[in-house]
Amino acid sequence: MLVTQERRLRDFWYAVMPILELKSGPKPFVLLGEKIVLWLDQNGQPAALQDRCCHRSAQLSRGFVENGCVVCPYHAWEFASSGACVRMPQLAEGRTVPKNYTVPAFKCQERYGYAWVSLGDPLVDIPLIPEAQDSAFRQIDCFNETWNTSSPRVVENELDMAHFAAVHRGTIGNKDVPLPLTYELIDRGPSSLHLCSEISVCAPAQQRKNIRSQQEITTREMNVTWFAPFVIRLNLTYPSGLRHIIINHPTPIDDSHIQVLQFHFRDDTEADTSKAELIAFERKILDEDKYVLESTDPNFPLDKGNEAHMVTDRAGFMFRSKLQQLLSLV
Ligand code: FES
Ligand SMILES: [Fe+2]
Repeated sequence: MLVTQERRLRDFWYAVMPILELKSGPKPFVLLGEKIVLWLDQNGQPAALQDRCCHRSAQLSRGFVENGCVVCPYHAWEFASSGACVRMPQLAEGRTVPKNYTVPAFKCQERYGYAWVSLGDPLVDIPLIPEAQDSAFRQIDCFNETWNTSSPRVVENELDMAHFAAVHRGTIGNKDVPLPLTYELIDRGPSSLHLCSEISVCAPAQQRKNIRSQQEITTREMNVTWFAPFVIRLNLTYPSGLRHIIINHPTPIDDSHIQVLQFHFRDDTEADTSKAELIAFERKILDEDKYVLESTDPNFPLDKGNEAHMVTDRAGFMFRSKLQQLLSLV
């Protein structure tokens, strides 16, 4: 499967960038191969259009924002979030802008501090993250970066309980325990699944501080939820009682590039673990995943394909088959 060939993938929501990035003007993004421009409208809400002016095809993202509209940098035509051209400075007095002077508009909304876009008609809502509304938790925005791989490879990696011992042997992986200690896979309907698993992990000094543990080898209870098509919620609990939720969202740029957006929720304080300390350690873990995932084939088989398999691939198979069913919906 190549993501840009699957038209059905347009019918989902994707986080594309932090809202904060839009405060300084319009920004470009490529979603599923489609060039889009995002900006903040007159109400401070994000808006998204095709990044191509209907006059002479200039990129609107190179323009600026005025009166809540994105203004083309070439001849300053102004476009509203509906995609309609609402002002042409060159228009003679008393004339109105022709109704067909429009740019395709896409659904766009703010959630969890990010702009989310759907290029089509969303089949499911943006995943609900209860901790975002819970004052016991703080949100930590960790990563926003481009990788050379495909979204489903990253999702499958998150559902792979056998990768820690090898991929993360330099940080949390316990190479002496290559299999998860427990493994329970739960079907949550057409667009979600849940995996509850305990794995044995190492806790280097920084991690011991971050998770309030004295032990060098500890157990990590992982509750991993997949939301179609490419959002992963990791709910981690440690013996100390600390709760740590990681939202990992590999947004599909094109067939072989993704934007990794990762934000966390924790029920501790900055005094317990500083944002800088947390990010420094998570950076190492993420780099370990990136190193391997950028070497995988971005063309992702939705069935068993011609790849070999093992017992811990069960969650990956459930993900593949649910995604295949969603993509074949007519
Ligand atoms: S190209 Fe956009 S206004 Fe002319
Ligand atoms: Fe990993």
